[in-house]
Amino acid sequence: MDSILIRGGKPLSGTIAISGAKNAVLTLMPCALLTDRPLTLENLPRLADVDGFMHLLNQHGASTTLEGAGNGGFGRSMSIRAGRIASTTAPYDFVRKMRASILVLGPLLARAGEATVSMPGGCAIGNRPIDLHLKAMEALGAEIELAQGYVTARAPDGGLVGGDISFAQVSVGATENAVMAAVLARGETRIENAAREPEIADLCNCLVAMGAEIEGIGTDNLTICGQDRLGGATYRVMPDRIEAGSYACAAAITGGELQLEGARASDMPSILAGLREVGLAIEETDGGIHVASDGPLRPVTLSTAPFPGFPTDMQAQFMAMLTRAEGTSLLTETIFENRYMHVPELARMGADIEVRGRTAVVKGVDHLVGAQVMATDLRASMSLVLAGLAADGETQVLRVYHLDRGYERLEEKLGAAGADIERVSEG
Ligand code: EPZ
Repeated sequence: MDSILIRGGKPLSGTIAISGAKNAVLTLMPCALLTDRPLTLENLPRLADVDGFMHLLNQHGASTTLEGAGNGGFGRSMSIRAGRIASTTAPYDFVRKMRASILVLGPLLARAGEATVSMPGGCAIGNRPIDLHLKAMEALGAEIELAQGYVTARAPDGGLVGGDISFAQVSVGATENAVMAAVLARGETRIENAAREPEIADLCNCLVAMGAEIEGIGTDNLTICGQDRLGGATYRVMPDRIEAGSYACAAAITGGELQLEGARASDMPSILAGLREVGLAIEETDGGIHVASDGPLRPVTLSTAPFPGFPTDMQAQFMAMLTRAEGTSLLTETIFENRYMHVPELARMGADIEVRGRTAVVKGVDHLVGAQVMATDLRASMSLVLAGLAADGETQVLRVYHLDRGYERLEEKLGAAGADIERVSEG
């Protein structure tokens, strides 16, 4: 298992190219199952989860072709063609490794009339149920059966029928499955209380390029007029707002400055507002966003919330940054029940954090001390890297396969901006 070695204390400076968004790609790739024509996705990040999803699509019968290494190895493109569906089952072995596999449910049901997906089970940050996904499929006429840890959804003989879906709770994945099922359902589908994350708009825009009819894109009320079939398209994946926010925290915690090339400020209003409140100088530029330290970090009080609120995927990274603020910050995690796995590891580096129920009380300390720490989940592992960049001495982050799921070439990008960082391959 690889690890990342960091010798901290160096202010970052320079440009970091922001890659295509992991959480957009993972809902764009299954769109290819909705048509027998090729879907080409550009600006594809080089991530373990993208490779995993590619293999999942292959076992459903889709062919996938990776093209071009893009500029300096960034910005690949992938053509996916599901001429026919060879299997409507997403096996446990795929789903247990990557929860996003559940996003084949809607497309398979819409295209092939049936889908059997392993129940995802829990993960490090929570038990991650899929009840909202299943209720949405039922609203489109599907019958649901649970057996041996798998859920099977079957469409009526004539295929899915448009209907009204009203989510009791905002869910990114359930909204994505509902949209991908509705675009081929007969008639009109209205979705209320839809998630508004920018990745949902990216999904809708890609489906429209494939011939779908969707109104209300970017809002929490979507109206979809189902089509008999969709065509192919070529679509460019949006930039990763969480990667951009994570590197902004790196500039903050090291007292440096970074040009986040390709970042889109309109995708990250609450992240930028939080960074400004902490004291960073934020400037939107032609090609992206420039972030720079501008004096000591100030404490803040933040709660995670669905978009346009402060994203749960930035909570761990902000916590790492706030361990160096001058004062006490309060971070409240409202989305997942167990997203504080990074706290004990940060504490081993000298951070002063107390978790009281859903709220973490983060008291700023004068300095952090490098240590050997363990990554537990994707964003927690990034928070440990951030702390290592600021810590005195050497930090070794173990189990970096968590990082490889969501951060493309992290050590290359940070190294090019002045960090003393290297990947150590263990055996
Ligand atoms: C997506 O997960 C993201 N993953 C997550 O990013 C992100 O943290 C999350 O949205 C929230 O923004 C991808 O896009 C691949 P949800 P998802 O359904 O869709 C509960 C990362 O680090 N819920 O919006 O699984 C659920 O338990 C990852 O990049 C139900 O109760 O999140 C959670 O408490 C981590 N029933 C809340 O809703 C359901 O059927 C929000 O989950 C579905 C969800």
